[in-house]
Amino acid sequence: MRKPVIAGNWKMYKTLAEAKEFALQLKEQQVDGTKVDAVICAPPLFLDQLVEATKGSFVSIGAQTMHEEKEGAYTGEVSGHQLQDLGVEYVVLGHSERRQYFNETDESVNKKAKAAFENNLTPIICVGETLEQREQNETETIVSNQVMAAIEGLTEEQLIQSIIAYEPIWAIGTGKTATADDANDVCQAIRETILDGYGEEVANSVRIQYGGSVKPENIVELLSKEHIDGALVGGASLQVDSFVKLLEAGA
Ligand code: G3H
Repeated sequence: MRKPVIAGNWKMYKTLAEAKEFALQLKEQQVDGTKVDAVICAPPLFLDQLVEATKGSFVSIGAQTMHEEKEGAYTGEVSGHQLQDLGVEYVVLGHSERRQYFNETDESVNKKAKAAFENNLTPIICVGETLEQREQNETETIVSNQVMAAIEGLTEEQLIQSIIAYEPIWAIGTGKTATADDANDVCQAIRETILDGYGEEVANSVRIQYGGSVKPENIVELLSKEHIDGALVGGASLQVDSFVKLLEAGA
C-alpha cells in the first residue's frame, strides 16, 4: 500500500501574513497524518516561517524549485543545501511552468533530483504532455522519456522515495481535468516504465501523483484509481477549506 501524498503548490501567490494564517489554521485541522502526507510548496521567502509554524504538526513544507549546486554565484537562486538548512522536506522539480518560462530541462531536473537527495529533500518530479502531443497520441512516449531522463542515475533507494507528478499541461489551471481513467492510464504507463528499468520493488513503491485542476469535487474518483497515489494541486490548495477536503479524501 502506497501512502497518498497531497501537495499544494502555491506558485507565486500569498503574502507572508496570508501564508502564516493559512499554516496556523491548517495545523489545527483534524487530519490523520499517518494516512496521508500533507505538503505545502510555498514561495521561498515564506519557507522559514512556514517550517516554524507547522513544526510538530502533520504538515510538511516544500519548495517549488532549487538549484543543483550547493552554493555559488547564481543570482536569484536557492540551493538544496539552503532548503535543507531551513527544515524544508520536499522540492518540486521540472514543473511545466519552470520548464516553459525558466529553462528547466530533463537534464537539469535530473541534476536537481540528485542534489535534492544529497540534501535529504524528497523530489516531486513533474512530467506531462502538451495538448498537441496528446492529440498526436504521443502522451505515453513523452511522459516516459521525461521520467527516465529525470531519474537517470538515482539509486534504487532514492527512487523508492521519489514522487512523480503527472500533470498534463493542458489541464493546469484551466478547469479541464483528465478523466480519472485517462490519468490512471498515464500513471500506469509511468509505473511500467519504471518497472522495465528498475524492477518490481521500485515500481510498486514510487508514488505517482496526478495534477491539473484537482479539486474537492474530483479528488475522490482520482484517488480511487490504482496507480494514482496523490495529487499536486495549485488553485484548490490556496484555501484552507478546500485543501483540507483534499487531505481528507486522501486519508
Ligand atoms: O502544481 C500544480 C499544478 O500546476 C496544477 O495547478 O491545480 O491550479 O490546475 P491547478
